[in-house]
Amino acid sequence: MHDIAAPRPLLPSHRNPLKNVSARPRIFVTRKWPGNAVAELESDFEVEVWPEYTRPPIDVLRERAAQCDYIITTIEDPIDRSVFEAGKGVLRGITQAGVGVDNVDRAAADELGIPVTNAPGVLTDATADLAFALMVSAARRIVEGDAYVRAGKWSSWHPSLLLGKALKGATVGVVGLGRIGAAFAERCQGFHMRVLYTSRTEKPGAAAHGWIRADLDTVLKDADFVSLHTPLTEETRHLISSRELALMKPDAILINTARGPVVNTDDLIQSLKQGRPGIAALDVTDPEPLPVDHELLTLPNVLVTPHIGSSDHPSRVAMLEVAIRNLHAIHAGERPPSPVAGV
Ligand code: DGY
Repeated sequence: MHDIAAPRPLLPSHRNPLKNVSARPRIFVTRKWPGNAVAELESDFEVEVWPEYTRPPIDVLRERAAQCDYIITTIEDPIDRSVFEAGKGVLRGITQAGVGVDNVDRAAADELGIPVTNAPGVLTDATADLAFALMVSAARRIVEGDAYVRAGKWSSWHPSLLLGKALKGATVGVVGLGRIGAAFAERCQGFHMRVLYTSRTEKPGAAAHGWIRADLDTVLKDADFVSLHTPLTEETRHLISSRELALMKPDAILINTARGPVVNTDDLIQSLKQGRPGIAALDVTDPEPLPVDHELLTLPNVLVTPHIGSSDHPSRVAMLEVAIRNLHAIHAGERPPSPVAGV
């Protein structure tokens, strides 16, 4: 494995017989991942792992696309048209260790015939857990409580100290009942909440659970908690803007573990200032990362975590393993298990 400190000139040796150090195909991995899966690739591939904590710059991505057979990406890597064009004739696949692929120009992948895959399924529970945790934390004011104690304000038990919202019997609105939305709804059901959901189609099994399909406006008006679980597409960008926020109950709690731009951040700030919704609990933001001096962080009714929805150890290991399974399939000339473009 090459844990490089600075980008090295890298040309696949099998395409450069004059420098025939190794005939093994090359893989560029854009981040260090937990687990041993990358080390296991080294018997068959020449593997380079980007050693920095932050993502590789776009020129490094282009350079590696021009030199490597495969790139294993994260949701934060901007895989735009220029990366695919740089990889034309060389790059045989991008396998993303993540489920959302809004960072990838899939039209360019289709045009250039470069397969792109994602890693669905393995982070469903982790993300649903975090959405549920954010909901409970906001409802029961856990972060505020911790700050209160640390600030030395805990002088007495008091009947009205940090009064929160109850889950049991409350209505939760699940916007987007895909894998993660459904796993979140199951958790809510376990806590005896009434579940409303939006979805383009009636979901098989949802009615048997007692989950009720409704349009977005109805869900926003009726729900005490609204949790977003849609992918980011042109249709869902700013799905939640001023008009939609104004429909929410004044003390409702908005949870976002999907993608930041599903919510219009400027509109959210204005709405939160007016207490509608009462609280936003966000694992994803727009922009991301959120600068420490961002106005969102000046509001007391906002709770933010740094896009850690899938961040339990087994899920992160499994995400990379799925990316590698896809890579092996492409390499063997087979259809990869989870293609999203270019095939
Ligand atoms: C994904 O894979 O899309 C998640 O957002 C990563 O946490």
